[in-house]
Amino acid sequence: MSAGIDSTRGQDPPARSRIRIESDTPVPQTGITGPSVNGHRITAPEVVFDSQDVSIFYGAKQALAGVTLRIRSGQITALIGPSGCGKTTFLRSLNRMNDSVPSFRIEGQILYHGHDIYGGNVDQVEVRRRIGMVFQKPNPFPKSIYDNVAWAPRNLGLKSELDDRVEKALRGAALWDEVKDRLKDSALGLSGGQQQRLCIARAIAIEPSVLLLDEPASALDPIATGAIEELMHSLKGRFTIVIVTHNMQQAARVADRTAFFSLEMSGEKPTGALIEFDDTETIFGRPRDPRTRDYVTGRFG
Ligand SMILES: Nc1ncnc2c1ncn2[C@@H]1O[C@H](COP(=O)(O)OP(=O)(O)O)[C@@H](O)[C@H]1O
Ligand SMILES: [Mg+2]
Repeated sequence: MSAGIDSTRGQDPPARSRIRIESDTPVPQTGITGPSVNGHRITAPEVVFDSQDVSIFYGAKQALAGVTLRIRSGQITALIGPSGCGKTTFLRSLNRMNDSVPSFRIEGQILYHGHDIYGGNVDQVEVRRRIGMVFQKPNPFPKSIYDNVAWAPRNLGLKSELDDRVEKALRGAALWDEVKDRLKDSALGLSGGQQQRLCIARAIAIEPSVLLLDEPASALDPIATGAIEELMHSLKGRFTIVIVTHNMQQAARVADRTAFFSLEMSGEKPTGALIEFDDTETIFGRPRDPRTRDYVTGRFG
């Protein structure tokens, strides 16, 4: 199934966009084909995000300069790099999460399935519905486990078969067996690792097509981190996943593609930039840029 954010104006309400889900409409094809194997052409998975020369500013401060990259369907893409190089900023720009920051400004374009995500008529609620997000620190609501997962579906009016939806999301987040007998208990009684899996269940309960994860395991112990990484693998394919991590081993374990960001001097000021983006094996095994090599071998950052 393909899904596009359509920025055409609807008839009502007047100033809002209409988002169309057209399950059998062909999506914009990028026409990129890979090498051929046994005589068959391998076509690269469809482009989900096409970031074109994106620069991001907070007031006078430039956080990122000229980021051009494509994120593909069904893959796990990791964003790595030293602290302050703009990983979170870039991730949050993919679902307009930075819009609430008054000083935020973006230049360039981010296309989602070919549609400008910052286009004037795009419905931000719909953007967040399709592109879910999980934050660095688990942030369950002070409600029951069930109500946490049911929250977004209820808000969207998806009330039929809510029990099934909640169970499916909790199973998807590999949490069901641990909580099925205490769904009415407070989510705040769960361990940190369970809370983070609950936040993932909450994000997938409305079946987005993309999951953005900002260092989802950074507050967790190694066992809980392992559970989150396993979960990434099980979610892969069903969702397009973009994960920020400062843990290079984690990127190497979970990601298909890895983007290395770093701080570059732009005039007097360090500004985040994308240095290299490639298959994870290439980034860690034989990076092309010496700055990537220094970072992944631990000489810097
Ligand atoms: N809301 C904000 N207001 C002002 N500056 C910010 C804001 N968020 C991030 N920054 C700045 O943007 C730069 C990139 O930050 P961030 O995206 O959080 O980096 P990373 O996730 O790679 O550590 C940093 O210099 C940071 O201080
Ligand atoms: Mg960050």
